[in-house]
Parts: sequence; C-alpha cells; structure tokens
Amino acid sequence: MNYHVVHFDEIDSTNNYLKNSYKLLNDFTFVTADYQSKGKGRNDRVWSSNKGENLMFSFLIKNPALLRKYGALSLITAIEVAKLLEAYNFKEVRIKWPNDVFINDKKVCGILLEGQILEYLVIGVGLNVNQKIFPDGLRRPATSLSLEMNKSFDIKEIEKELFSNIVNDYLSLNEKPFLEYFRNHNYLLNKRVRVLINDEPFIGEVVGIDDNFYLQIKTRDMLLHIDSGEIEIL
Ligand code: BTN
Repeated sequence: MNYHVVHFDEIDSTNNYLKNSYKLLNDFTFVTADYQSKGKGRNDRVWSSNKGENLMFSFLIKNPALLRKYGALSLITAIEVAKLLEAYNFKEVRIKWPNDVFINDKKVCGILLEGQILEYLVIGVGLNVNQKIFPDGLRRPATSLSLEMNKSFDIKEIEKELFSNIVNDYLSLNEKPFLEYFRNHNYLLNKRVRVLINDEPFIGEVVGIDDNFYLQIKTRDMLLHIDSGEIEIL
C-alpha cells in the first residue's frame, strides 16, 4: 500500500494537524515537521526538539480493523522504531511499555496516541536523531542516535525506512512476531514498579505482557493486567 507524506518546516504539532484534518485525510497520511512550536508529550508535557535535528512525525489510522486494536498500536509503533535501531546496529535497545524506546537506559523515542475511540487515531512519534544537547531538568536522561554512536544520521533515510515498515507491518495485522519481539526487549521486565489504577496505587513486579499486549504486574496478592497508564519504576 502507498502512503502519503505532508511536510512542514514549522508547525504547532504534527499530532494537532492530523486531529484537525483527519476527516479529509486517508489512512497512513504521515505528517513530518522540522520544528514544532507546541510539541506535545504524554500527560500534558512539552516535547521540545531542536529544529531539523530529529525525526518528528504523526500518522493517521481510520481503518476500523486497525482501530479495534488500538491497545496494541502504540507498542507496535515503538517496536517498529526499536527494530529499525537494531538494524542500524544499536545495542541495548529496549521498549518501556507502553511506548518509549530506550538505548542504554536512556530514552531515545517517545510516542503519543490521540484520537477518538473507533473513529480515528493519531500516532505521534518523536525520535531523537542528531540532537546532542538536551534541556536540563528532564524527568529521565535523554539520548539520541548521534550521542550513542558519535556520528550523524540521515533523518530522511530513517524516515523512509520507518514509514514503509510501519505501513507494511500494520497491514499484515499479525501480532505474534510483535509479542515475541517485545518479550525479548521488555525494559520493565523484573522491575519493581508503581502504577495508578483509578487513582489507586499498586506496587508490584513486572512479569511480562499477555497476548493482548497488556502489561502484567505481580503484586503481593494478585496478577494485574494493565491496558494503559504511566508506569513508575521504583
Ligand atoms: C512522550 O514521550 O511523552 C511522547 C512524545 C511524542 C512526541 C511526538 S513529536 C511528533 C508528535 N507531535 C507532537 O506534538 N507530539 C508527537
């Protein structure tokens, strides 16, 4: 299947662009930007990125069969990024459920899903590529491909490969290989974590994901299956 790319030198947020125009656009419309003036992260955080140094994009899903699997789609997108990084010879690539990619214990990619259940989904991805200096005061240490390998990368080349892998793999709708890949790259495995469920804190150890891509946390007296949320490592 073909996909379509809309590029902006500058925009408020590629996620916002698709949210505002999803009705007029087709599945797998990708929007890229060199700079976002209002880049958004998860939980109302700001996603800031130097102009032209990183890959920032969002893409649109309207296909009902894919929308029904929205729980899996953020993880699958993170897996696509992780697989590409391994193809570029990065080692110690891990995925922090539900959607961050880490290299050597530092975050290199974040993903933000927005939309309306069963109507449309916008998946926004920020991958740090050539940026070498990050703002102070980030919640966790950040890294970039360039910092990890001490060379610069062709952002357009990464973009082309990633977009075509995403389109092909999404359409195959075969989740098995993704589950298997994730199980071998689970950053949280065996870690002690805290998660909020309906504002109630639960503490336990991450033991894996189930076949629906839900995170499994073993607490003192039960096995939780979590479908979304922020996981805090203790
Ligand atoms: C996170 O880790 O908090 C998610 C970060 C998502 C950032 C990307 S950059 C492209 C797209 N547009 C946005 O405004 N945010 C996402």
